[in-house]
Amino acid sequence: MGNSKNLHPVTGRLVPRSEREKLLGQRAKVFWMTGLSGSGKSTLAIGLQQALHQKGKLVCVLDGDDVRGGLNNNLGFSEADRLENIRRVAEVAKLFVDAGVIVICCFVSPAKAMRQQAKEIIGEKDYREIFVNASLAVCEERDVKGLYAKARQGEIKDFTGIQQEFEAPVNPALEINTEKNPAEASAASLLEFVIKETRL
Ligand code: ADX
Repeated sequence: MGNSKNLHPVTGRLVPRSEREKLLGQRAKVFWMTGLSGSGKSTLAIGLQQALHQKGKLVCVLDGDDVRGGLNNNLGFSEADRLENIRRVAEVAKLFVDAGVIVICCFVSPAKAMRQQAKEIIGEKDYREIFVNASLAVCEERDVKGLYAKARQGEIKDFTGIQQEFEAPVNPALEINTEKNPAEASAASLLEFVIKETRL
């Protein structure tokens, strides 16, 4: 645990967030995509960033597979490590939001408690939960990274959906069903939602 006793934060003495948002012409927010591996989070995030960039918006994508190769390369997939993964990422997302940037987070974040932690760190008014929904059967059939096969063979432990549960969000701000809807329709409804939410 950190000791904040001898710290003197500069935060209150910096250019206010509202000024940075004005500079960028956007309202900063975190769009937290949760869903099974293979549900389409990263694909949606890539398309969304491109579309927003073309509209002159500044966007940062934080994705589990990237972050776990750097900042969080000392973490695995136990419940405690996943919680710590989400804690660090939520703190980073908060820094970006304070800089006026739109943040798209792609994390399996399988437990309600993990998403609750992210929401508390980021702050309710800046956090929008997006459930990228596809059934386990479909994600396993897609098996884009070949990880479900490895998990079934016991090569990977603690895999979400196989050995560990995914607790579906009960009341997300938005649900994108990538199993039932064509990719273009999913991308379009996501873009529409984010544009509305980030308008100054
Ligand atoms: S989280 O649970 O802590 O939110 P995160 O989104 O960062 O997970 O990482 C998930 C990614 O790591 C998956 O998309 C997959 O590519 C990879 N991965 C490797 N092992 C596992 C595992 N045991 N469970 C889930 N994902 C895993």
